[in-house]
Amino acid sequence: MSLYAIGDLHLHFQSPLKAKRQIKEKIWKNHEEVFRKNCAALLTPEDTLVLVGDHSWGRNLEECAEDLAYIAALPGRKILLRGNHDMFWDANKTEQLNARFAGRLLFLQNNYFPYGDYALVGSKGHCFEGPFWLDRRGRVVDWDEEAEQRSKKLTERELQRLRLSFEAARADGYRWFIVFLHYPPTSILEEESGFTAMAEEYGAEQLIYAHCHGESRFHDSIEGEKNGVRYSLVSGDYRRWMPLKILD
Ligand SMILES: [Fe+2]
Ligand SMILES: [Fe+2]
Repeated sequence: MSLYAIGDLHLHFQSPLKAKRQIKEKIWKNHEEVFRKNCAALLTPEDTLVLVGDHSWGRNLEECAEDLAYIAALPGRKILLRGNHDMFWDANKTEQLNARFAGRLLFLQNNYFPYGDYALVGSKGHCFEGPFWLDRRGRVVDWDEEAEQRSKKLTERELQRLRLSFEAARADGYRWFIVFLHYPPTSILEEESGFTAMAEEYGAEQLIYAHCHGESRFHDSIEGEKNGVRYSLVSGDYRRWMPLKILD
């Protein structure tokens, strides 16, 4: 039994592609088939795969039906986190999604899922993504402060959701935690954030995130061990469609 994670499949079996990167870059060519084969070779029915958001370009459940069926057909137990592009997932209707896909897919928000002695907790997360203004050397010299204020509100809401997830697990007696966020835990301006503080507060062992696409974004946030928490980026193009093993 092992725990794996990957994010940002951006499936589009029934919907038009909306990202130029996905049309142009080689890594995205036939990625559904590459990922399906990798999962078939790697995962057993006893394993758990956490998909860390941005599952589908579909705008509603009908447009996502084939994408979600593709995920459901992968081996093992599949837990989904909400990404910024997951329009099919109404933040207030996670329970309905869990009822509708019972036995096929699990949706993680304001709840948690057990994995052995661990609780898998998470939220979409949020971090400020600019606009930034750079100097000739590519260093950030200024940014849009109004956008930063708006971003802070979204960050606060996601911090509340993450705390709900931690508290639900703690109320059931869990003391070991793995945290999943779709967004990176820190912006390119930050060394730490409310998310890193919360991971440390609850003594989480690992924090897994995605959302960063392309070479220029892969190192936007924390990687490796910091203050007792191990941080890993698992966006699909970064992982070259190979899920990362999180725990045995
Ligand atoms: Fe994405
Ligand atoms: Fe994203």
